[in-house]
Amino acid sequence: MTLLSGRRILITGISRGVGLETARLFLAEGAEVFGVSRDPGRLERARRELDPSGERLRVLAAELTAEGAPARIAAAVKERWGALDVLFNNAGVQLDGGTRGISAASEETFRDSLGVNLVAPYRLCRALLPLLALGREPRLVNVSSGAGNFESMRLTDIPSYRLSKFALNGLTLLLAGELAGKVSVNAFDPGWVKTDLGGPNAPGSPVESARGALALVTLPFEVSGKFWKDGAEIPF
Ligand SMILES: NC(=O)c1ccc[n+]([C@@H]2O[C@H](COP(=O)([O-])OP(=O)(O)OC[C@H]3O[C@@H](n4cnc5c(N)ncnc54)[C@H](OP(=O)(O)O)[C@@H]3O)[C@@H](O)[C@H]2O)c1
Repeated sequence: MTLLSGRRILITGISRGVGLETARLFLAEGAEVFGVSRDPGRLERARRELDPSGERLRVLAAELTAEGAPARIAAAVKERWGALDVLFNNAGVQLDGGTRGISAASEETFRDSLGVNLVAPYRLCRALLPLLALGREPRLVNVSSGAGNFESMRLTDIPSYRLSKFALNGLTLLLAGELAGKVSVNAFDPGWVKTDLGGPNAPGSPVESARGALALVTLPFEVSGKFWKDGAEIPF
């Protein structure tokens, strides 16, 4: 018996990094996966690598900040399953690498960071809540970052990224309260890992992030409104 057999899971940002490895592990554990990312070529490569037969993985190319994207994704999930068990909001960007301080960051970087890392998951949650309501022990995971915890707000580098993840943690808490007993809602820190976003100097691998993600989505359903890393609770 695999840990996720029969679970219907939507993963955003599936084409590479944390999303790709999480999908690989979730599929190995028996899940059915719906994957979303924006670049069609990278997405198709990931699909072929993860499940060439297409039996348990379907994909949809979508720019998550586009106006109609959440409705399009919800329609595709509804058509495939008619319900959703896990929404794994993983797609994210880190756009202000060299910037120190909010006053130095461009307004465009600020807007785009919050657009992908906060507004897109907010809109996707809202579009998918009706399908989660029909799911079995439904769960929502927001992939956040240690860079967005409360203590990190005292630091000056990557300000837009930090703020977007701090706000995503806030969204997690708001939804956990609102949906208590109906949908389990948690934030997840995948750790600093080698990906295009994490960079080559990161100490960890996204394979380790995937193990942490599996630990989180297999916690008792009642666990909600918390922040997790490597299977352990961490402070917001
Ligand atoms: N890596 C780390 O060290 C680290 C640490 C803490 C938290 N995180 C978080 O973990 C998550 C995954 O990060 P990663 O390191 O795996 O990043 P990554 O390797 O850069 O991959 C990002 C993924 O998100 C997708 N994506 C980005 N913007 C999108 C948009 N507007 N619409 C649709 N898809 C979009 C990308 O799709 P395309 O391929 O189509 O562009 C890609 O699949 C992020 O939320 C990140 O903030 C990562």
